[in-house]
Amino acid sequence: MQPSRTGVPFFETGSTMKQTKKSSNLSIFVIVFFLLLFGVFMYNDNLKSSIADFSFSTTSSKRLKNVQESIKNVPLEDCDLFTGEWVFDNKTHPLYKEEECEFLTEQVTCLRNGRKDSLYQNWRWQPRDCSLPKFEAKVLLEKLRNKRLMFVGDSLNRNQWESMVCLVQSVIPPGRKSLNRTGSLTVFQIQDYNATVEFYWAPFLVESNSDDPKMHSVIDRVIMPESIEKHGVNWKGVDFLVFNSYIWWMNTVSIKVLRGSFDDGDTEYDEIKRPVAYKRMLRTFGDWVDHNIDPLSTTVFFMSMSPLHIKSSDWDNPVGIKCALETTPISNMSFIVNTDYIQFSEVGTDYRLFSAVENVTQSLKVPIHFLNITALSEYRKDAHTSVYTIKQGKLLTREQQADPANFADCIHWCLPGLPDTWNEFLYTHIVSQR
Ligand SMILES: *[C@@H]1O[C@H](CO)[C@@H](O)[C@H](O)[C@H]1NC(C)=O
Ligand SMILES: *[C@@H]1O[C@H](CO)[C@@H](O)[C@H](O)[C@H]1NC(C)=O
Ligand SMILES: *[C@@H]1O[C@H](CO)[C@@H](O)[C@H](O)[C@H]1NC(C)=O
Ligand SMILES: *[C@@H]1O[C@H](CO)[C@@H](O)[C@H](O)[C@H]1NC(C)=O
Ligand SMILES: *[C@@H]1O[C@H](CO)[C@@H](O)[C@H](O)[C@H]1NC(C)=O
Ligand SMILES: *[C@@H]1O[C@H](CO)[C@@H](O)[C@H](O)[C@H]1NC(C)=O
Repeated sequence: MQPSRTGVPFFETGSTMKQTKKSSNLSIFVIVFFLLLFGVFMYNDNLKSSIADFSFSTTSSKRLKNVQESIKNVPLEDCDLFTGEWVFDNKTHPLYKEEECEFLTEQVTCLRNGRKDSLYQNWRWQPRDCSLPKFEAKVLLEKLRNKRLMFVGDSLNRNQWESMVCLVQSVIPPGRKSLNRTGSLTVFQIQDYNATVEFYWAPFLVESNSDDPKMHSVIDRVIMPESIEKHGVNWKGVDFLVFNSYIWWMNTVSIKVLRGSFDDGDTEYDEIKRPVAYKRMLRTFGDWVDHNIDPLSTTVFFMSMSPLHIKSSDWDNPVGIKCALETTPISNMSFIVNTDYIQFSEVGTDYRLFSAVENVTQSLKVPIHFLNITALSEYRKDAHTSVYTIKQGKLLTREQQADPANFADCIHWCLPGLPDTWNEFLYTHIVSQR
């Protein structure tokens, strides 16, 4: 059930402590004792975390090197991280606890909102040909020191951003981290590292009438596929950029494209087929990247689509209600694979948009890491927020929770949960950089 995590043998937490125990030399104990005292003195905190901090400060670069070595043993080029399987592993997952992350919003705290089963938190992604390195917040933060990591996109990217905040925040003492929401930008600041983990709302990436993160048109969506500068100016100089854009394109078969500009008060639009409009957006996006990103200082990622689970017959559950009754991942994907991906089925995946992104990320001067999370996320019918979430800012009532056919959200994901795995992929890429 749990294959060994090959390639990550070196950096177990506390290995330095074990080595000192082995030694019978008293003087080493004395030195270690005083070093620890010094550590306690330096960090006016409780003893336990002081020791942890101290041993980290002496070994952080070594640990980072070990992580890089272990990843080098399994070179990313030789291992397709996205081909593999979900394994039940309640020893290593979840990577944090829901109640221990104060930054989680009510939208994703499924257990607190009444969900009874929690096995959805215990699945680990096991690539077929290698293993993901163990997520170590301090190793990532060392990489983010004096840097900015920004997620740009829609509420699913915000879902992933929340996950990332929780993945790193546990190692930051209270009062040394803060959250600041200003307009389209939300910034999680980690003072001791002068690092930020940010989220920028731009659901179509290009300009649209849905750009206000709070007051946006949900039903009537109009975009300007050739206009990106207004958003892009906020992305310049960021060290790690993580883009996505998918779910907002899926409401209708065709997309409304503005004639003219919102600034000039124009309101007339053309209706354009979804993949055509999407490709126009991608061309604008690609041009922006090629003209504004210095690949030596900025790393760009694009997340492939996050799938929906609306129609339970897609995974052969005749008594299912959307995703609401699901407590385990899909075990037999051949059923789902047989459905017609090309037309938008309610499984939710329009693979035409997938290959459009894949194509664009391969054709630019600036390299973009395409993180292929779609298929592996399709297994996770169990991981959505379902009725344990909010609607229009309010927790669902008991009556609404009892009516999943109308109220289950089978788009967003509980946290801890699936987006943590997406961030394990990001982590692997970021810490493996020299
Ligand atoms: C994406 O990953 C899936 C497995 O999760 C694989 O079947 C598919 O070929 C991959 N697609 C690309 C473009 O890498
Ligand atoms: C982990 O799962 C195993 C097998 O289902 C179970 O016996 C064990 O109690 C679980 N441990 C925890 C900590 O949940
Ligand atoms: C802090 O981080 C910002 C943003 O990445 C960077 O511009 C600045 O130089 C950093 N400050 C120091 C003192 O390194
Ligand atoms: C939040 O960020 C904005 C814009 O950078 C800044 O003007 C404001 O002072 C910040 N608020 C807090 C509480 O730090
Ligand atoms: C998986 O589903 C396919 C299609 O429904 C079926 O033919 C196959 O027997 C199933 N395999 C298993 C192991 O259940
Ligand atoms: C992506 O590129 C391939 C090969 O050039 C092409 O066959 C395919 O139509 C392209 N797909 C999209 C969506 O542009």
